[in-house]
Amino acid sequence: MLKVNDINVYYGNIHALKGISLDVHNDEIVALIGANGAGKSTTLKTISGLMHSKTGSIRLMDEDISHAEAYKLVAKGLAHVPEGRRIFLQMTVLENLEMGAYVDGGYMKDGIADAFNRFPRLKHRKNQIAGTLSGGEQQMLAMARALMSQPKLLMLDEPSMGLSPILVQQIFDIIKELHKTGTTILLVEQNAEMALEVADRAYVLESGRIVLSGTGEELAQSDRIKKAYLGG
Ligand SMILES: Nc1ncnc2c1ncn2[C@@H]1O[C@H](COP(=O)(O)OP(=O)(O)OP(=O)(O)O)[C@@H](O)[C@H]1O
Ligand SMILES: [Mg+2]
Repeated sequence: MLKVNDINVYYGNIHALKGISLDVHNDEIVALIGANGAGKSTTLKTISGLMHSKTGSIRLMDEDISHAEAYKLVAKGLAHVPEGRRIFLQMTVLENLEMGAYVDGGYMKDGIADAFNRFPRLKHRKNQIAGTLSGGEQQMLAMARALMSQPKLLMLDEPSMGLSPILVQQIFDIIKELHKTGTTILLVEQNAEMALEVADRAYVLESGRIVLSGTGEELAQSDRIKKAYLGG
């Protein structure tokens, strides 16, 4: 599905990604974990064409997308829910979903009904201004909007950030459900425990480098991971 090979990404003089390589296979959930500033969001931004690498390549379903523009990648099956759930705060829930329904000049008219089936909470609030939704509801809206394009690969950047334990559990249940219905997922999380639990495989990022990878289970058992990310 996705093959990232040796990418180096800079913000001016700051060398944020130092030779990152990773794979996401069809139907997998792959987690990317690591401390603040490790380069997780930059990795997702580079895959989705918002940043570009000086080296290496990125392939999506066997197509080289290293130099593709972000807006073109949606039509190729990639969706990215960025950090901090970027929704249109002044618009209603329905209007936000409609914004996500325009893909490559076409309008996904079944998408809205699908979104409301998947997120009944949003259906009841479809005329509510998005900025007045709770944090968890805003995250659901951001995910629902990304799903309007029926992506093959969904990238989620810290979907559980700032949510109460019950809402975190709900978001992870939705992730599992999406995975069951055939969406491949690349998940960035600070919540390493939850991420490793749902992930088939995971990569650990430190200072712009991948320092460890393995199955979710292997990493959850690793002493290094336990010490650094799982509180002992
Ligand atoms: N727009 C920017 N300009 C300059 N440096 C940046 C910019 N965005 C990120 N960086 C730097 O790049 C590095 C990687 O940042 P990134 O946002 O990818 O980290 P992260 O792993 O997502 O962290 P967090 O868990 O805090 O979200 C950091 O050192 C950060 O300060
Ligand atoms: Mg980040």
